[in-house]
Order: sequence, then structure tokens, then C-alpha cells
Amino acid sequence: MSTQNQPITLEEINQDFSLVHTASLSPDAEHAIGFFSGKKVPLEMHRVTTVKRLYLKDIDTRAASIESAGNNTFLLDNRDVFLDMLTDSGVNSMSIFQQAAMQTADDSYAGSATYFRLKNALNYVFGTEHFLPAHQGRACENIIARTFVTPNSYVITNYHFTTTKAHIMNNGGEVIEVVPQTSLDPTYITDFKGDMDLDLLASETARVGRENIAFVRIEAGTNLIGGQPVSLANMRAVSKFCREQGILLVFDASLLADNLYFIKTREETEKGKTVREIALEIAPLFDIIYFSARKLGCARGGGIVSNNVELIEKMKPLVPLFEGFLTYGGMSVREMEAIAIGLVETCDFHVISQTAQFVEAAVDLLEAKGVPCVRPAGGLGCHIDAMRFLDHVPQEEYRAGALAVAVYLASGIRGMERGTLSEERNPDGTDHLSAMELLRLAIPRRAFTLSQLEFMADRIGWVYENRDLIGGLRFVEEPAQLRFFFGRLAAVGDWPQKLIAKFKKDMPSQV
Ligand code: F0G
Repeated sequence: MSTQNQPITLEEINQDFSLVHTASLSPDAEHAIGFFSGKKVPLEMHRVTTVKRLYLKDIDTRAASIESAGNNTFLLDNRDVFLDMLTDSGVNSMSIFQQAAMQTADDSYAGSATYFRLKNALNYVFGTEHFLPAHQGRACENIIARTFVTPNSYVITNYHFTTTKAHIMNNGGEVIEVVPQTSLDPTYITDFKGDMDLDLLASETARVGRENIAFVRIEAGTNLIGGQPVSLANMRAVSKFCREQGILLVFDASLLADNLYFIKTREETEKGKTVREIALEIAPLFDIIYFSARKLGCARGGGIVSNNVELIEKMKPLVPLFEGFLTYGGMSVREMEAIAIGLVETCDFHVISQTAQFVEAAVDLLEAKGVPCVRPAGGLGCHIDAMRFLDHVPQEEYRAGALAVAVYLASGIRGMERGTLSEERNPDGTDHLSAMELLRLAIPRRAFTLSQLEFMADRIGWVYENRDLIGGLRFVEEPAQLRFFFGRLAAVGDWPQKLIAKFKKDMPSQV
């Protein structure tokens, strides 16, 4: 610090302006801040600087929109959506430092300074030396699957993600999931539902033979089971097992921010550590780490990092082939600058606590109205249990998909089906009935307010009261792969019309 006799140095001025050190310099960055009354309210440790006007179109317009979207929320025009809770991917709010950094991007095809800044930020978080850029998470999956998955090989994972599984299957591999059965039970309460069952990992490895395993994959903040975290203890145990067996261990860090929050707040041995210290302990447990920067780092892009140069060399040729030159990998350099700052900001407890605390608040509001949700509340968003919500609708008629339609009709809120509709069909053509039927209402980072969540809970509470009116869906156009993106469906019967009539009767003054 400067004193009266000593003028401030240029280094100190630079430090003040330094974009990437905002998180670590913040004196409160490690402590939860609570209310004197003890009331549990997620307190925003940021202020809004730029906003986007929202519109709630009337229910007749919504009915026409969802019908022309083939009853698939992916196919809705966003202008017909009030609260877009489809995903947290690429729609998180950015910080002023991210916005500012975008202006500093070095727009060169090869050897861009931006690449090195992002590589340094990754080193700050993960301690890794090597970085292959890719345009988003699934692009990393394409590169990893093409390099390591061979026909008839296996990938053992805590739980699959849709695009991950598709890439593994496209390369002739098969996915084996090893979370315990209890993790698929939305009512089962435990801190780390994303943890692998270590006995199952060992028995499945023995069953298929370790030489046939392309890699073991741990997904942070396990998406499809409700954004459920993995403990550091479990990561350590899986890493030890894979090292002993000589099996490659891959980490999908897309949802790491939420997972870091849960490790720091729920795992006894880790509570005293800083967020960054935890991240730096996680990274060396894995051979390869990849991420979607549409989630991690609150921007748009992706990448693969590792300290193993041989593995990097194997994957490297695919970057210029599918993505772009090695120093941008299909990303805009502006986004790369934003990712770099976003990654460093991920080490700030207040940045990563926002989503998890909002998800819990949303789940509390929904459950107060009787709406069944996945518990414990995870990261990413709240997950409504359509299995229980619509237990009168056959699973083959896509309970969670039907619920997504009903919620959109009643509220203009767009959620995402995460159940049977999101599964690939069995080889014999029958539906692969998902273990869970979830309607995910994503809560993009720092984007929505508590009053918007109250509105969500209020309208979905109404849908719950009228759930008997809701029926199923059937495909009218079904793509062969990742059918949930473009598939078109029709209502089984005229239940949407009945639901709309009841809405108008119950809420005549509302749209
Ligand atoms: N891994 C996980 C755990 C993800 O959640 C996602 C994307 C990806 C990989 C693929 O990344 O979209 O950048 O290609 N999840 C988004 C979602 C699509 O809505 O949950 P991407």
C-alpha cells in the first residue's frame, strides 16, 4: 500500500484495475452473509446493471405458439416466452469485468494473446498446463470420444448427459452408469447424490474387463439426476481406483461452479478451504478435464485441459479439423476473454452460491404448494418430479414433456423435459423408459429475481391443483437421434383446451 511518503506504484494501480483478480481480492469472498432475523433468503451480492424487458403474452397466443412448436419447448420462439428456464447454457448474466474484458480481445487467427490469457485463467483454477479450445461442451465430447472410444468399448460414468452419451454411442461405445439406485429417487436425501457407487464401479469394471473401458467419466453437478453434486471424497476414491487399474479418468466440469459450492458448504473436511483451493485439489485427480463454458465461466465456449502432454497430443489434431485453429477452437476471442474472467470469478464464493441458493428457494416455494421436486435441491435449476406430478399419465406418453407444455400454457415459463423423451430408443425400437421423469426449470446464473420465482411457484401451484386435467403426448415427427431437440408431438386427446378453459375460469383477470 502507498504511504504519505511513498506515492502509489503503477503495479498497485494495475492491481486495482486488474480484471482477473477481482474475485480473489474481495475480502468477503469466502463468507456467507446472513440475516439478523435468521430468515433464509438468498442475498444477491451483485447489482443489476443492464436489463432485458420481458413480455407475458396471453394464454391464447401461448396455446397457438406451443402448438406450432410441436409441443416441444425447444421449438418455441423466445419472444413468446416470459421466463426462459429452458437452460442455464449460454444465458447466464455476465459481470462488468467480463463485459470489459471482451473489449480487450486480440482478434488474430493464430497465437492470439487472448488464448494465453484464457490458458492462464485455466491454470489459475485447475493448475493445468495444456489447453485445447473447442466451441462448446459437446465439441469437447466429440474430440474425446473420437480419440478414446472404440467400437464395443465402455465408458463408465456416474450418470450420462445427453450429448455425451450420443458421442460415445456414435463411436461404437456403450455407457454404464454407476450412481446408486437411491440417487434416482427424488425423495431420497443425501448430500452427494452424484457420487459413484464404488462397489458398482469395481464390479462393472471386472464384468466388462478394464482393457475394454475407454475411460471413466465423472460429471460434476450431475445434470440429469437434478444437478446433484459429487463429493471430493468420492472423486478421490474413484481417482485412486482408476490409477490402480490403469483406466483413464475424465472430468466433465461444465457444472463445476455449483459443485464447488456444495463441496464447500456440505463436505465437512473441505469447509475451511477456499473455493480455489478446492478446485486445485480436484483437478489433479483427473487425466482430462473438459467443460462447457456456456455454463462454467458464464460465457459461451468450451475447452479441454490436462497436464498429460501425450493425451493432449492425441486429441490435438481434431481441434483444427472440427473446431478451428489451436488458439481459438471455434470460439470468438471476445467470448474467450469473458470466459477467462468468468473462470476466475468462479473462485468467488458469492458468485457460485447464487444459483444453488436460488434453486433451494425455488424448490421451497414449489413444495409449499405441494409440487413434488427433486430433493435435496441441487444446482442448475429446480427439477419437478413429473413421475409423481402426473402419475396418471403413462410413462410412454412422456409425463415430463406433457408437464412442460402445461406449465408453458399456464405461465409462459419455458422448462425442459428431462425424462423418457430425452432418451434414445432401445435397439428394438421401444421407448427406453427413463429412471426419472423431470421437468427442469433452469435458473441461469444471476438472471432472475425472487419475485419471478414466486410467480413461477404460484402458476405451477395452479397447474398442480389442476393436474388431473393433463394428459400425455405422442410423437408425430421423431428424429433418429437426440429427438428431444427437434421432435414434434401432439397432445393425446384435447387436454390442453380443457386446461386453458379452466385457467380462464379460475383467473379471469389474468393472461
Ligand atoms: N456436459 C454437461 C454436464 C452439460 O450439462 C452440457 C450441456 C454439456 C456437457 C454439453 O455442453 O451445451 O456446451 O455443448 N448442457 C446444456 C443443458 C445443454 O441445458 O443442460 P454444450
